[in-house]
Amino acid sequence: MLSAKQAAIGELAGGVAHEVNNPLQIILSRVQLMVVRHGTDERLRDGLALIETNVKRISRIIRALLGFATHNRADAEGQPFAVSTALQQACALTRHQLESKLIEVDVQIEADMPNATGSVGELEQVFINLILNAANAMASGGRLEIAVLLEGESLEVRFSDTGTGIESEHLDRIFEPFFTTHADDGGTGLGLAVSYRIIENHGGSITVDSVPGEGATFIVRLPVAGPDTSSDTEPESPGAEGTMDAQPLDTEPTDADPTPE
Ligand SMILES: Nc1ncnc2c1ncn2[C@@H]1O[C@H](COP(=O)(O)OP(=O)(O)OP(=O)(O)O)[C@@H](O)[C@H]1O
Ligand SMILES: [Mg+2]
Repeated sequence: MLSAKQAAIGELAGGVAHEVNNPLQIILSRVQLMVVRHGTDERLRDGLALIETNVKRISRIIRALLGFATHNRADAEGQPFAVSTALQQACALTRHQLESKLIEVDVQIEADMPNATGSVGELEQVFINLILNAANAMASGGRLEIAVLLEGESLEVRFSDTGTGIESEHLDRIFEPFFTTHADDGGTGLGLAVSYRIIENHGGSITVDSVPGEGATFIVRLPVAGPDTSSDTEPESPGAEGTMDAQPLDTEPTDADPTPE
């Protein structure tokens, strides 16, 4: 559940992120200018390149943090949409990266799927995060199977990869903001934290199952859009116990402190 404390921290983080971003952009453009002007001095050029890399890294974190801060429940009060639309868009945007890593993708979408309600753009972002994570786990190729199906009153989207899998001691940390095993190649550790928050705000859940060395399966569950789509009422689904809470690995999501250290 999105607690008031988390929402307040999110808002604060968003404010700070916004303020930090402007001076960062100034540093970045000045460094790039210096590279153009003094690029002939090798030591200086190396130093500037190091500054540029690290400023870009901070900038990426800030951007993800901004995304993290702006996803509140209001964003999820959107229109009914087809999950397959968000998925197809996400696949199209990541196709090049997957192809270049020799990853085979198989997408199975059950016929006559009902709609979900919320923000198609946010869902697309979640799917992109999950696809890119799978790609990062399959550095030397592999297979990604994506399935969209109806399970009771929930829409399920499953992403199964044949990558490295997730060490058992990492399993309950991967949804924490800033947890990453890819810090060296630009990972911020915010992809899953943002995704978790988005899915939670859509009344759904995101869980993971993994055998280290064999791959990982992420499952996103979303409630089916109710017949009444007016945003004041939660869609009521007979049989299901109201709104589902996002529960990664049966751990309490509020344990994850969204602030760094
Ligand atoms: N499909 C996967 N297979 C193996 N490990 C995964 C998978 N998805 C996530 N992980 C693990 O979870 C960690 C956190 O993922 P998350 O998306 O939050 O951050 P990231 O991918 O490291 O960074 P970013 O999303 O900013 O690029 C990853 O660093 C990786 O260790
Ligand atoms: Mg990621």
